[in-house]
Amino acid sequence: MDQYAVVGNPIAHSKSPSIHTYFAEQTQQTLTYSTLLGDDIEFENQIRAFLASDGKGLNVTLPFKERAYAMCDVLSKRAEQAGAVNTIVMSENGDLFGDNTDGIGMVRDMIDNHGQTLKGKRVLVLGAGGAVRGVLEPILSEQPKSVTIANRTVEKAHVLARHFECLASTFEDLEGAFDIIINGTSASLSGRLPPLKDELVGEQTWCYDMMYGADRTVFLAWAHQRGANGADGLGMLVGQAAEAFYLWRNVRPETASLVALMRKQME
Ligand code: ATR
Repeated sequence: MDQYAVVGNPIAHSKSPSIHTYFAEQTQQTLTYSTLLGDDIEFENQIRAFLASDGKGLNVTLPFKERAYAMCDVLSKRAEQAGAVNTIVMSENGDLFGDNTDGIGMVRDMIDNHGQTLKGKRVLVLGAGGAVRGVLEPILSEQPKSVTIANRTVEKAHVLARHFECLASTFEDLEGAFDIIINGTSASLSGRLPPLKDELVGEQTWCYDMMYGADRTVFLAWAHQRGANGADGLGMLVGQAAEAFYLWRNVRPETASLVALMRKQME
């Protein structure tokens, strides 16, 4: 039977096995999907061993996405741009194909599940770490009017802005309202927010947090207090998985029902 797995460390609490099992049942595909605890020294050997048996593909999560990128033979444009791989496909000829579905998963969630468009919009992205780097190419592919990257360490925002041909700023220098604000900082993991001015939120502003949780995230609470609607990153988690599933099986699963189910289970 075709085997798939998610590799990371830690990995025990990964939701990927239940997400992919749900997709497999929904699309009537026969496969198994397990977890693989990544080893700091043996990571590349673990990947090769898995794919040399019945392994057809892998998802890769923290802290191995850059190492997966380095070991793939062929890369998609978005993986190339992200400098990180979250999905490996075992090709017919034995090559490892590396893709990054995080950004397209987020963009599809915004468009398909939340009715947003990025085309022509003034977009603000908060943060300049690996998570943000992973989503910039798919955001730019939607042809927004502008993308501004704001980061505490502004040099990191400048590096990304040069690479992706967009704008960089400190939080303090941001001016006026944005159409879409995406939080990609890890500050909210510890319940904190960057220093965001009230004027960033206007009447049309819609906010997206790449984090998610049972309670409204601090970023979405900030947005809500200023009258803006938004969504958290649960749909991005399911969306990136759906894109990986599509790469492996050539069938696109429906995601909204699973997002609703997972939301209910978190209550
Ligand atoms: P990830 O893989 O989640 O992107 P990362 O590469 O460590 O993790 O990046 C974390 C991001 O969150 C960075 O943009 C970081 O800002 P710095 O580059 O200035 O460190 C941002 N971040 C983390 N804690 C923050 C805080 N308390 N306030 C503002 N930004 C914060």
